[in-house]
Amino acid sequence: MLQIKRAGHSTLTTPDLERTLDYFTRIIGLSLVAREKNRAILATKAGLEAIVLERSATVGAPRLSFQVAPGSDPGEIVAKLGKAGIKSERRTDITPGIKEAVAFTDPKGTTLEVFSDFDFAPRDESFNGVMPLKLGHIAYTCPDVQGIVKFYCDMLGFRVSDWRGDFFAFLRCSRDHHTVNFLRAPNTAIHHIAFEVRDWTDIKRACDFLAQSNIRLTWGPLRHIIGHNIAIYHENPDGVVVEFYCEMDQMYDEELGYFEPRPWHQDRPQRPKVWGDGTLSNWWGPMSHSPNRTNAAAPAKPAEERAPRAPASAAATTRAQKKVARPSKSRRKPKSRRKRR
Ligand SMILES: [Fe+2]
Repeated sequence: MLQIKRAGHSTLTTPDLERTLDYFTRIIGLSLVAREKNRAILATKAGLEAIVLERSATVGAPRLSFQVAPGSDPGEIVAKLGKAGIKSERRTDITPGIKEAVAFTDPKGTTLEVFSDFDFAPRDESFNGVMPLKLGHIAYTCPDVQGIVKFYCDMLGFRVSDWRGDFFAFLRCSRDHHTVNFLRAPNTAIHHIAFEVRDWTDIKRACDFLAQSNIRLTWGPLRHIIGHNIAIYHENPDGVVVEFYCEMDQMYDEELGYFEPRPWHQDRPQRPKVWGDGTLSNWWGPMSHSPNRTNAAAPAKPAEERAPRAPASAAATTRAQKKVARPSKSRRKPKSRRKRR
């Protein structure tokens, strides 16, 4: 098994390279590291390569890079993959920062480029756009979520942070709650890419900047329940959904097995779990309340904090909590609102 430590860069294809490059530099605030006729490599201001754009007739995300421990031997990576029956090939100079990588295909058809060592991008002192800290996570749709989760856990060393029912999985490879997400859908596609920003102030600044740039938010600001990140969403010129987020749940110690406690957590402690169908998408913001539904994700109060005589509401709360705790066996198609998160 490999042990992935972080996401490197996502390769996105675009029919209009100039327009998409303008978006990623001027709006997202990435630095242009290298430009070829049909390709551009972009990094964060802090020097982490994050996005590679390639000219193509279609919009897609055909490749994703991951870093393993520095100093890892590419030959050993090839051998480990081979033992598991996975064909791979060694590639050189896949970006200016990555001199050597091992490429193979995951079960949903995305090419993964695993590297151990990289060079930071040259210093860029300019101050423009949102300027995220890093490429934080990449979400995909695919028909066989259970299969892809097994591959990422068994072959790449990911851990499951949370499930929503049996159709949406959140996997971590570091302290971050998720670095990849997989949502069940008939077709394999990119669902969204997400950049981490420093804090809520950066989210507010991004809201103002996007509005000034005539880019409408499509969702948020909000705090999710699964992962608990504060987030905003918009679409880039190719229609790819882009998220900015901060305050994602952190698992600092795998042996402790819970996410660093936060006041807004539903459980104490907040451990990886299966969230039931009744779980709302968000703790606050859009889709955090519904007049027709019980807030099934409401935090369970300790017994001593419960009102001594409230039989009706207490019973309702207990039923709702049981619903959250029980893994979903439902196979029905998720409603569109649930598909988003
Ligand atoms: Fe996300």
